[in-house]
Amino acid sequence: MTEIEAILQKYQNRDREYLLPILQDIQSVSGFLSRQAVISVAAHLKIPTSKVYAVATFYERFRFLPKAKYRISVCNGTGCHIEGSGNLLEAFKRLMGLEPGAELKNELFSLEVVQCLGACGNAPVIKINDVFYSNVTPDMVPELIAAIKAREEIK
Ligand code: FES
Repeated sequence: MTEIEAILQKYQNRDREYLLPILQDIQSVSGFLSRQAVISVAAHLKIPTSKVYAVATFYERFRFLPKAKYRISVCNGTGCHIEGSGNLLEAFKRLMGLEPGAELKNELFSLEVVQCLGACGNAPVIKINDVFYSNVTPDMVPELIAAIKAREEIK
């Protein structure tokens, strides 16, 4: 039995009011809602797949892609913006072919724009997972990405 089937078994009476708890259970186990999970939930509750998507996309907490291993956050608070975070963001987008909010298909990287990371004195600042990088310039971006890729190839 798959993890999703095990979760659906807990909701035997198939009441539609359990849609949110089911989605939450699946996400807490899988980390995201796969297409197959959405289809299975819809079939279980006998509602259209589009309805499951409509509900899930309404809530920001649901994800439809697995969490990337390296989550890059580019600060665009006032301090960082003044110091050129816009150029930094462009450099990440150009190099990685990623728009903020998107994740690479290989699940290695995701890119997001955040507001003040609380280190304005070192602007512009980025964070990769829990590691902060200060005074980042666009020409440092290829090096940062290359270092991560090299680390991944070694493993
Ligand atoms: S504005 Fe970027 S760290 Fe504060």
